[in-house]
Amino acid sequence: MNKPEEKFTLLPQDQAGDPKLFQTLLKQETVPVPDYLAEHYPGFSNEDLSVDRYASREFHRLEATRMWTRTWQFVGREEQIPKAGDHLVYDIIDNSIIVMRGDDGVIRGFHNSCLHRGRALRMDGGTVGKLKCPYHGFTWSLKGKLESIPCAWDFKHIEGQNNDLPQVRVESWLGFVFINLDDNAPPLADYLNELPQHFRDYAFERSVIIAHVQRRVATNWKVAQEAFMESMHAHVTHPQILTFTGDCDSQYDMYGDNISRSVTPMAVPSSHTKGVVEPLVLHDILAESGRMADSNADAHTLPEGQTTRQYIGELNRSIFGEASGRDLSHATLAELQDAILYSIFPNTQIWSGYCGNIVYRVIPDGDNHESCIFDVMLLWRHKEGEVPPAPARLNRLPDDQPFSAASELGALGPVFDQDMRNLGAMTKGLKASKKGAVSLASYQESRIRHHHQTLDKYLGTGGGK
Ligand code: FES
Ligand SMILES: [Fe+2]
Repeated sequence: MNKPEEKFTLLPQDQAGDPKLFQTLLKQETVPVPDYLAEHYPGFSNEDLSVDRYASREFHRLEATRMWTRTWQFVGREEQIPKAGDHLVYDIIDNSIIVMRGDDGVIRGFHNSCLHRGRALRMDGGTVGKLKCPYHGFTWSLKGKLESIPCAWDFKHIEGQNNDLPQVRVESWLGFVFINLDDNAPPLADYLNELPQHFRDYAFERSVIIAHVQRRVATNWKVAQEAFMESMHAHVTHPQILTFTGDCDSQYDMYGDNISRSVTPMAVPSSHTKGVVEPLVLHDILAESGRMADSNADAHTLPEGQTTRQYIGELNRSIFGEASGRDLSHATLAELQDAILYSIFPNTQIWSGYCGNIVYRVIPDGDNHESCIFDVMLLWRHKEGEVPPAPARLNRLPDDQPFSAASELGALGPVFDQDMRNLGAMTKGLKASKKGAVSLASYQESRIRHHHQTLDKYLGTGGGK
């Protein structure tokens, strides 16, 4: 199918938006709709947020000492460290953690600091037989037991002490590995609130990373995280997706302190537009979304009497069902195509549903409050009982490379580049602000409000400012 002529009208900005659209679409589903797709919006205040929250070094240091040391943080996926000695290194401001699989199969977290004179034991992930410090050779087992000391005659004074590598809490959920530096933090299962219930049917534990791209981004970590917490920027930042994305028609929900989500209806034209014909919706969602079962728009024509939403839902049901070896006849059209994006405070966002699952991780770039490390992972579900494919290797893009240079991201690369152009400009604009504050939309930016309210609970600075 060649691209239909783009004859539609862009409406005045102030007229667009229907936050009830998703609930209306759910009423048209032909299979039972799971309860967790219901609206769950607690309502928030509307005070401005000070730009200091992004731009000030003091605020960043408060986050370093009071928040990053006490929260569950996604490090990587279990399939990245399948064998004994495989490990990831997670650097979070002043701390560095080695997350390693032992020869007993258990994943442990070790403070990445030699007990001799403090050298970091590992500078990056990889595989080792032992943890041997590259400076003088103190050596620990994969379980963190001290095994040998060079010139041991000179270290008689530490004999009898506990010389095991100090550990950090590690917990896994559906293959996602988290660490927490706080021994007194609640278990991960409590921290995740209702999320395990919401994700119970998506078989994330059988997912493998098929693309993993990382790049440094010149902005505060929250600015980057918040770029994925609202869809109302799409009509200006990503105009190519308006023909198939209900950007300002999204639903926003929060669950406890740590979980929020947005639900953006797909295969419907934005309410910023008028007169978009269905063949154009079909063409563009296939060609531009980067998440559907086929990206070859020319291979599809909308059958008589079907909406694009029905057609794409069934296409995804069939192809993704076959690929994952699952009968997806019970799946709603929503879970087969919509952008249902959850965040887990503070560093992770995961796209849910039966397909097109993307994971974002955003953390500060060392101790620099004006730079962050952004990771994007695409997941693919393999069949039960099948040997999973090896996970994709990390593609670390140089700072000056666009995401579109990472061909494994497909149509998503140019979309991220559009987002990235905002992020550097946010750093500049926040510092230049005469107003000294940002004003959030009451509803459409409620996930951002929620993000800051949770942050305040850790910082003890009170809400609002
Ligand atoms: S600092 Fe590690 S062995 Fe000396
Ligand atoms: Fe975006």
